[in-house]
Amino acid sequence: MSKLDLKGRSFLRLLDFSPEEIEGLLALSERFKRLKRARVPHRICGGFSAALIFEKTSTRTRCAFEVAAAELGMHTTYLDPQSSQLGHKESVADTARVLGRMFDGIEYRGFRQSDVEILASRSGVPVWNGLTDEFHPTQVLADLLTIRERFGRLSGIRLVYMGDAGFNMGNSILAGAALTGMDLVICAPEIELYRPSAQHLAACEVVAAKTGARISFETDPLKAARGADAVYTDVWVSMGEPVEIWQQAVRDLLPYQVNRAVMEAAAPGAVFMHCLPSFHDLNTEIGRNIHELFGIEEMEVTDEVFESPASIVFEEAENRLHTAKAVMAATLTDAEEELDRLGI
Ligand code: CP
Ligand code: NVA
Repeated sequence: MSKLDLKGRSFLRLLDFSPEEIEGLLALSERFKRLKRARVPHRICGGFSAALIFEKTSTRTRCAFEVAAAELGMHTTYLDPQSSQLGHKESVADTARVLGRMFDGIEYRGFRQSDVEILASRSGVPVWNGLTDEFHPTQVLADLLTIRERFGRLSGIRLVYMGDAGFNMGNSILAGAALTGMDLVICAPEIELYRPSAQHLAACEVVAAKTGARISFETDPLKAARGADAVYTDVWVSMGEPVEIWQQAVRDLLPYQVNRAVMEAAAPGAVFMHCLPSFHDLNTEIGRNIHELFGIEEMEVTDEVFESPASIVFEEAENRLHTAKAVMAATLTDAEEELDRLGI
């Protein structure tokens, strides 16, 4: 197989990469996972520094990048919305030029995709997209790894994405499925808000034509779920969306809840997936608020499905670490050569 050559590149959207490059990142993630499990040190980025910028809250992404960086031998500086000048007193372009002189790489979680693109073009160092309103590529890389671990392949796997397909997760799942030859069914209401843009869909269809991926739409959840190997969903209202849309979201997306009937319609051995965090019970402040307002105890997935043996959500969460490590190592170094050189 050809060598993975991503040194100096940014990781902003999955569609910036070829199917072979995505495959290379998955293979590198698996390699790092084996090393971590065997407790073999792999500090191939010793002496490198990364800035981790979060304009929205995070558990998985921040921890994945911090732990991955530490295990690669890197130093990190965490910047939250309150503790930097970004956006309030200093533009993204100016911040990029400052950070690019101090750090070897920058992780960015924020609102506009254009901001992460400005950071990449102005900083001169690799920038890793830790979620924007439009895309969440490091999450989907972890999801692809998780599906492949479970089924031994990605090509031809029938993945049903249920609910809000018009925001970051829906867009990135669509791109990831197209790049890896999956059979993706998008099950969402026929409302523009919950659908990928025509432009993004067209770009994914071009890729799908090369990989053999299939992309289809269905509005009936039980029909969509028929024969599914994996059923994926996300929250109904994402970070950065106005709270006023909750009422509409509950009305429009409750029929797309992943529940026992949906999983029973899926293929035997089908798995349930979610990027997390998830509203599957009343153990969150938002979950309790929504319960008070609309009387529902579970949202995009029932607690029964979330806690069932079919649920692989925590495998996905773990794989955020291994894939974040692959993304950083591959864009900062000749990672495979470094690991080969160490004989690990
Ligand atoms: N899935 C994910 O990105 O989680 P966090 O918001 O906790 O980073
Ligand atoms: N769509 C969700 C994903 C969280 C990981 C959000 O943007 O809030």
